[in-house]
Amino acid sequence: MNKKHNFSAGPCILPQEVFEKSAQAILDFNGIGLSLLEISHRSKDFVAVMDEARAIVKRLMNLNDDYEVLYLGGGASLQFVMVPFNLMKSENGKAAYLDTGVWAAGAIKEAKKFGSVDVVGSSKEDNYSYVPKDYNVGSEYDYFHCTSNNTIYGTQMKTFPKVDTLMVCDMSSDIFSRELDFSQFDLIYAGAQKNMGPAGVTLVVVKKEILGKSGRDIPSILDYSQHIAKESMYNTPPVFPVYASLLTLQHLENNGGIAAAEARNEAKAKLLYEEIDRNPLFETFCKKEDRSLMNVSFRLLDESKKETFDNAWKTAGISGLNGHRSIGGYRASLYNALPLESVQVLVDVMKNL
Ligand SMILES: Cc1ncc(COP(=O)(O)O)c(C=O)c1O
Repeated sequence: MNKKHNFSAGPCILPQEVFEKSAQAILDFNGIGLSLLEISHRSKDFVAVMDEARAIVKRLMNLNDDYEVLYLGGGASLQFVMVPFNLMKSENGKAAYLDTGVWAAGAIKEAKKFGSVDVVGSSKEDNYSYVPKDYNVGSEYDYFHCTSNNTIYGTQMKTFPKVDTLMVCDMSSDIFSRELDFSQFDLIYAGAQKNMGPAGVTLVVVKKEILGKSGRDIPSILDYSQHIAKESMYNTPPVFPVYASLLTLQHLENNGGIAAAEARNEAKAKLLYEEIDRNPLFETFCKKEDRSLMNVSFRLLDESKKETFDNAWKTAGISGLNGHRSIGGYRASLYNALPLESVQVLVDVMKNL
């Protein structure tokens, strides 16, 4: 196969080893003479997968047993609903949200169905070109919700505020890409399909002590406590995405963990941003200080060069470079598995335009 340089924003590139091992598991899992796809999720072989998939997240994030790890269906979008259902008080519920893009706005829209929502900061009026920083979140809120990386606009929170309430973060597009003090968060969620596995499963990391306090009668399937009680097997989990996510996380752990991934991600982003800043034909959509290490969203300033540029990157074997349909332009997603060489190919195309 002539492998492309895959800059797709998600589902996206994963380590080649993950593709190979997942393919093998579909044919014959652990040498048991059965496919991963045809065994019970209650079989000892799959229970071992789930146990390790939960344990490795805590090791990588350096979290203690105050936290539980869940693999759930429904995408990150379901977490827009599960978070307020589980955390917003049934009486006079009130939450603070930071509006940094379409996904944050989606979370806000759902939360409003459960109680009162204050948007404590928003960059919507400026096309989400920066991350608001000037706000305070007091104890009157049940929780604060933010989005660590804004996949469409290419902005990223470099620091997180100190808040006087629970801290909830959608890390869908930069999970495991950089070192953070993960214990500053009470609940983290991430659709797997951007940096930790295939589509079909969502990671939730939650501090146990925050649950069971909303006063709501939560349907079991939406109740984190029920999923915890059943060790992430309340219902049939998405077995293949969980297994492929485990392989991706094992690959990360065996290659220096998050710290080493961060160093590689910084090198890739530096290479591309330096070219964007040097080349008068390109500019990013967002303010410099908020530039994402994961999604580099940029535009061409001379539209007459569009056809030449598009032909050049396609000829160079690049795939998935088109920007999100809502803002156009280009987006180079530099997820953990993307090699530096792929960024160099793109930079060479930009240099020669
Ligand atoms: C930051 C962020 N949050 C949420 C979502 C929605 O994820 P899902 O499609 O898994 O519901 C996305 C999808 O791109 C995203 O980038």
